[in-house]
Amino acid sequence: MSVAPAGPSARPELAGLTAYSSVTPGPVPVRVRASSNEAPGGLTGPVLDAALAAVSGATRYPLIGGADLSAALAASLGVPDAAVAVADGALPLLDRLLLAYLRPGDEVVMAWRSYEAYPLSVQVAGGRSVQVPLTDSGAHDLAAMAAAIGPSTRVAIVCNPNNPTGTVVPWSALSDFLDAVPPDVLVVLDEAYTEYDARSRPASMSVPELARRGNVVVLRTFSKAHGLAGLRAGYLVSSAEVAGAVRSVLPPFPVSSVAVAAALASLAHPSVLAARVAATREERARVTALLGARGVVVPDSEANFVWLPLGDRASELADLCRARGLLVRPFAGEGVRITVGDPDLRAVLAEVLTAWE
Ligand SMILES: Cc1ncc(COP(=O)(O)O)c(C=O)c1O
Repeated sequence: MSVAPAGPSARPELAGLTAYSSVTPGPVPVRVRASSNEAPGGLTGPVLDAALAAVSGATRYPLIGGADLSAALAASLGVPDAAVAVADGALPLLDRLLLAYLRPGDEVVMAWRSYEAYPLSVQVAGGRSVQVPLTDSGAHDLAAMAAAIGPSTRVAIVCNPNNPTGTVVPWSALSDFLDAVPPDVLVVLDEAYTEYDARSRPASMSVPELARRGNVVVLRTFSKAHGLAGLRAGYLVSSAEVAGAVRSVLPPFPVSSVAVAAALASLAHPSVLAARVAATREERARVTALLGARGVVVPDSEANFVWLPLGDRASELADLCRARGLLVRPFAGEGVRITVGDPDLRAVLAEVLTAWE
């Protein structure tokens, strides 16, 4: 067999790019999938009906720029249409934002550990990640993040609630941070899990007020509380200028017609979302209590997952979980993140903890 000639090389800054990890099932059938912070169960009711109805119309292109979804979001959030950009998820929007704003070597300040995709997205866009350690309680150290912003910083990311620790930043501390950041630095507030956050939001931190600041980007998704991870839809809200820059680098049809239909139905039926969120919060309290009773103390979570700061024992627990059909997300040497919401989780977790003790 002849050897294929060496083809063209990809951009050198892509060398050593680590893949976005996924958790693979173990030797036994999966009983509970608690590794990707998805909503449990399947779609039902008006959201399912809308998605199914849209499939039959899928011979047609959706509206350019997801204009129907972005208009509905703008109306429900109280911002101009021009302040919104939609795409097939929050992560593709972050990628496009970085593509639009990073120059080679520009720095992106982020807490660490935080959402694992951030450093990959920064590297792909040609930037450099500056990682500021979380506090001992797993929270963002906003003062240290502000101090890490220098002349090369172009973007700062605050993940609130933080993936994987579930912690939130106090609104007053966030406000101080935003005031301290220079106006030419974009602050991405990744609110992928905001629907699970039970705190009330001060008026000064409302989406329209944040967008009015000019350098703040609120990033959200339909993948988590809305339960549409597999359909792919997300949005960002910012100034018209920033949202326009992102739209200019998005493909013309950034979100599918089926995803748009499901997302619109989810927005139109807030009781479906509210019921899912309420059930998940209750489950979170029960899982937290179960863990606490077995001596595993987790940071207070405002998301649909809990963080077990197990250090060197993280992989061991994740292996035990996998062997019993429970998929969780380990971070070797740091901890284990467990998605809550599935009512079957506690029974399997209790078995695992008994075997682990
Ligand atoms: C903090 C955070 N941001 C963004 C995303 C990506 O969401 P999407 O599915 O909308 O791309 C995730 C998904 O896990 C996440 O945890």
